[in-house]
Amino acid sequence: MSPGDASKESSRPPVPRSGLFDIPEWNIKGNSAPPLKRQGLLSPNAAKKAEKNLLKRQKRKQKLQEMLSKQGDSKSKDQATSAPDEGGNDRRKRPRPAQLQSAATRADSGSGESDPVTSGKGNLSVLQQKMHQKLQGAKFRWINEQLYTTSSQNAFEMMQSDPQIFTEYHLGFSSQVSKWPINPVDVFIADLRDNYIRPNKKKARQDRQQRVVVADMGCGEAKLAKVMEGENQKGTGKQVLVYSFDLVKANECITPCDIAHVPLEDGSVDIVIFCLSLMGTNWLEFIREARRILKPRQVGELKVAEVVSRFTDIDAFLRQMDHEGFQLTKKDDSNKMFILMEWKKSKRQAKMQADSDVANAAGLLKACIYKRR
Ligand SMILES: C[S@@+](CC[C@H](N)C(=O)[O-])C[C@H]1O[C@@H](n2cnc3c(N)ncnc32)[C@H](O)[C@@H]1O
Repeated sequence: MSPGDASKESSRPPVPRSGLFDIPEWNIKGNSAPPLKRQGLLSPNAAKKAEKNLLKRQKRKQKLQEMLSKQGDSKSKDQATSAPDEGGNDRRKRPRPAQLQSAATRADSGSGESDPVTSGKGNLSVLQQKMHQKLQGAKFRWINEQLYTTSSQNAFEMMQSDPQIFTEYHLGFSSQVSKWPINPVDVFIADLRDNYIRPNKKKARQDRQQRVVVADMGCGEAKLAKVMEGENQKGTGKQVLVYSFDLVKANECITPCDIAHVPLEDGSVDIVIFCLSLMGTNWLEFIREARRILKPRQVGELKVAEVVSRFTDIDAFLRQMDHEGFQLTKKDDSNKMFILMEWKKSKRQAKMQADSDVANAAGLLKACIYKRR
């Protein structure tokens, strides 16, 4: 403060002498000498003592700096000898930023062991990888829950407005599938291959010119269609033609739509498959759509695979299917996780197909919620 400022200062309200304003100026970082001595406010003895203390502190600081620089030297030497580059060049002269960083981390932690935070693969540290995985898992669980707890129309709008949601969902879904003892879609693949594409020889001769039309409703990434394409090339029996439907056109095989309304003619399909895809709260509308596109009477077949724990009342579910015009032909509940069922399209369905049934049926299938790990 210049002398001229003092008069200005006196006209200001007094600075409070407590709290933050109490911190003396010399306590601020960078102000090394205590101003009291400079102002002659200390006794000669106290001033001597303060000077001694200051010298002691400065010596300690210098020693510490010397030790640190010695430590840094030996570490960069270690690294250069243990990691020569491919051309055999000595990297001692110019350590790379990564070396510097890991040296710094080790100096901080005070140990020579590899750092658990930065020893991950690629550009992400282990911690970052873990956080990324957690985030992916959370996104998958959220999308999954939306698909089970909303109408198919909402689900379609959600996926169409941001197709990335489909990608995120299937990243998480395939990670789940990799942990399952069986994948139900593989059961359907084996079934189509063994019964139609590569049947026994006698049957094959009769079938060669024919084809089976399949609608894969909620096909995911269309594994069924892709595998069948390859199988058809090697087959001796019927050709299996698969129409794949899902909310997003994730690849060339897929027709994007809501499976409550698929772009197929009435009575044009031999087999309809729902593999873990009765997801919307209006799933009964999917079943009605399946009946519409299936070939008439005893020819058309419906196949469903679902998670066992989704059924609140399996008998009520089967009664509803019967009501919708499907005659149960097979029920395989030998697997603890999944149930597989097949129906023939009945000659008749119940006269009344009430809209209210759709809402009531919603409660027959619970959402399949994946646990947080
Ligand atoms: C659990 S995944 C199963 C995918 C495939 N069926 C499989 O087993 O690998 C369910 C699929 O059904 C689709 N899906 C759910 N509701 C749908 C709807 N209303 N219309 C079309 N696809 C639907 C989802 O987008 C998802 O790809």
